[in-house]
Amino acid sequence: EDRPVEGPKRVLLAAPRGYCAGVDRAVVAVEKALERYGAPVYVRKQIVHNKHVVSELEARGAIFVEEVDEVPEGSHLVFSAHGVSPMVKEAAAERQLQAIDATCPLVTKVHREATRFAKQNREILLIGHSGHEEVEGTAGHGGDRVTVVNSPEEADTVVVEDPDNVVWLSQTTLSVDETMETVNRLRSRFPNLQNPPSDDICYATQNRQVAIKKVAADADLVIVVGSANSSNSVRLVEVALQHGAKAAYRIDYTDEIKQEWLDGVQTVGVTSGASVPEVLVRQTLETLASAGYTDVSEVETATEDLMFSLPKELRRDLGDCD
Ligand code: F3S
Repeated sequence: EDRPVEGPKRVLLAAPRGYCAGVDRAVVAVEKALERYGAPVYVRKQIVHNKHVVSELEARGAIFVEEVDEVPEGSHLVFSAHGVSPMVKEAAAERQLQAIDATCPLVTKVHREATRFAKQNREILLIGHSGHEEVEGTAGHGGDRVTVVNSPEEADTVVVEDPDNVVWLSQTTLSVDETMETVNRLRSRFPNLQNPPSDDICYATQNRQVAIKKVAADADLVIVVGSANSSNSVRLVEVALQHGAKAAYRIDYTDEIKQEWLDGVQTVGVTSGASVPEVLVRQTLETLASAGYTDVSEVETATEDLMFSLPKELRRDLGDCD
C-alpha cells in the first residue's frame, strides 16, 4: 500500500557523473575508425562497459569479439578502454591486424608501473577484481610477479615470498574507501609495503564517488545508471548505500525503474557511471518527472575538463598532426 510522501518530491543529480575522458576517447575512436576505414571495424571486448553504447556502435558496423583469433586477417581491430596484456598485442600483430589501441591513458599508466616493478623483480599485489578485463591486462604487464587481491579479506591471507619487496597497484575503478581498507590490512602484515608512485584509482572514479556520497546523505533512494559489468557503476551503488541512501539500485534503462522503489520516497539521487551517455540519464529524469519528481537540482562536487587525444594510429590515418 502506498505511503504518502510529505513535502515536495525532488531529484538530486550528482555531478560529475557519466562519461570520463577515457570512455569518450574510446567511443570516438570506434566512430572515427568506422568513418575512416568503413565497416566492419572489429573491437576486442566491449569498447566500454555499457550495453547502450555497444548496441549503438554495432548498429553502425562495429563487430565485437572476445578474442583476436575471431578477427579476419588484415582487419582493423580496436582494443577496448580497459586495456590489454602484451600477449594480446602480439597475437594481433601475428594475425597482421591493424590495431588501434583505445586503452585509457590512465590504465596505460598502471601498465607501465606494473612493467617497471616486475623488471625490478618486485612482488606486485594488484588490488582489483579477478576476471575483469582491466585486471587481466595489467596483470599481463607484470607477468608472474603479480598476485591479485580481490577484497580486504584477501589482504589477510595473501601469501608473499619476501614481505620487504612488495608493492601494491590497483584497478582504476574501485571504491576508494574499500581500497584503503585493503591497503591498511596489507600494511599491517607487510609494514614495508610500497605505495604506487601516484593514485591508480582514476580521477573520474574518485570524483563520481565523492559526488554520490554527498547526494546519498540526503536521498531516500539512489538510482545509478550503468551496466552490470561496469565496475565503477557497481561501486557507486555500494558507496551510496554506505553513505546514507536508504536504497540504491543500478539500471541500464529507465524502464527498469520499479514503481515500488518510489513508494514513500521524497528525494531521489541520480548518478551514472563513467561509461554512460547522458541521454540515458535524461530518460531517467523524464521517467521520474512523470512520477512527480519534477524538482531537479544538481549537486556538484567537482568540475572536470580533462580530454585525451585519439589513439595515435587513428591520428596518423586521419592526418591529424597535433
Ligand atoms: Fe580511464 Fe578512469 Fe575512465 S581509467 S576510462 S578515466 S574510468
